[in-house]
Amino acid sequence: MERQPRPGHRAVGHDGLRRKVVTMSHETPATDRPLTTALAEAAATAGHAPSVHNTQPWRWRVLPDALELRVVRDRQLAATDPEGRLSALSCGAALHHARVALAAEGWAFVVERLPDPGDAELLARVGDLKRVEADPDAMRLVQCMQVRHTDRRPVGDEPVPTAALGDIAAAVAAEGARLQVLNFDQVMELAAAASHAATVEAEDSGQREELDYWTSRAGTGTGLPPEVLPEQAQQTTVPGRDFGRPGTLPIGPGHDRAAAYGVLFGDEDEPDSWLRAGEALSAGWLTATRLGVSMVPLSGVVEVEGTRQTLRQVLAGLGYPYLVLRMGIADPAHAGPPHTPRLPTEQIVDTSAVRSPGDTIAG
Ligand SMILES: Cc1cc2nc3c(=O)[nH]c(=O)nc-3n(C[C@H](O)[C@H](O)[C@H](O)COP(=O)(O)O)c2cc1C
Repeated sequence: MERQPRPGHRAVGHDGLRRKVVTMSHETPATDRPLTTALAEAAATAGHAPSVHNTQPWRWRVLPDALELRVVRDRQLAATDPEGRLSALSCGAALHHARVALAAEGWAFVVERLPDPGDAELLARVGDLKRVEADPDAMRLVQCMQVRHTDRRPVGDEPVPTAALGDIAAAVAAEGARLQVLNFDQVMELAAAASHAATVEAEDSGQREELDYWTSRAGTGTGLPPEVLPEQAQQTTVPGRDFGRPGTLPIGPGHDRAAAYGVLFGDEDEPDSWLRAGEALSAGWLTATRLGVSMVPLSGVVEVEGTRQTLRQVLAGLGYPYLVLRMGIADPAHAGPPHTPRLPTEQIVDTSAVRSPGDTIAG
């Protein structure tokens, strides 16, 4: 059984992440690949997923016939996210990335979410894998994973086409969550709530310390480096997160007037729905990337209990808010931020159950 990546199948990105180059998969037909290699590679590809403060709170275990996803509590934000809502959302995004990667390689499978009531850290098991035709839409989304990133600069003056917003909302809905695009009055309410949440969080020493920790992790493969954080506060209607320190990302004079704001929400406020909302976030964000729409999650307003309730009222009781999303067309004239670094694959994918002595990690 081949468990080593073949030469040329993976390339190293400028952020050090081993990037999967789907266009090169013609070198060897996907059908020749052993299942465990496909599982390990899907888990590695899921490392591209977005996560709150780039905590990457996930760990994958490759089994002979299944892939398990666990939340890593050590990388959960104890002060900012005590209930684990944002870490579950992040893990859900990684789960969707892995699902898409498997579909792109021609695998059908069954996902069991929270399969063991006695083991809350086991978030999902992907099993019952069968060979099918490779899915070309999934292949396109795998390419989107490699370019998707969080660009915190204010967006330009070009509005997001209504059809694109509709496609993003449809991708979210296909994963069982919903996206409500806010009208002008609702954006004003959101702006007030986001500003209040920022004040509350700035006064909380635990949250300040946590932010300080995750913005000073250079060289660890986690957290937010200065290059992705704005060099100064932005003059936007809805305030972005105050990271407590200036970065080095030039932001220009933009004001975000043409940005669209949406609330990702659903019927329940439980771990299972947070996981699914994360899958929906990934689906919506990858679709946005495919359509040239920049997306930035704003979670401060859902982190503070009071403003989360305000957001619930903004939704007129339609459901429970998980995340606010800013959508816009990024300034094409200036380069955006670089990719945020990731943990080495070895730290997020455990292949020990399928490795023979002497093998190196597959993925
Ligand atoms: C659940 C969740 C919440 C997030 N909240 C914020 C936020 O409030 N502000 C922000 O600028 N980015 C936010 N992000 C974006 C992450 O910081 C980003 O995904 C991470 O740093 C990795 O960088 P990348 O998206 O460029 O790959 C959030 C992402 C997730 C998944």
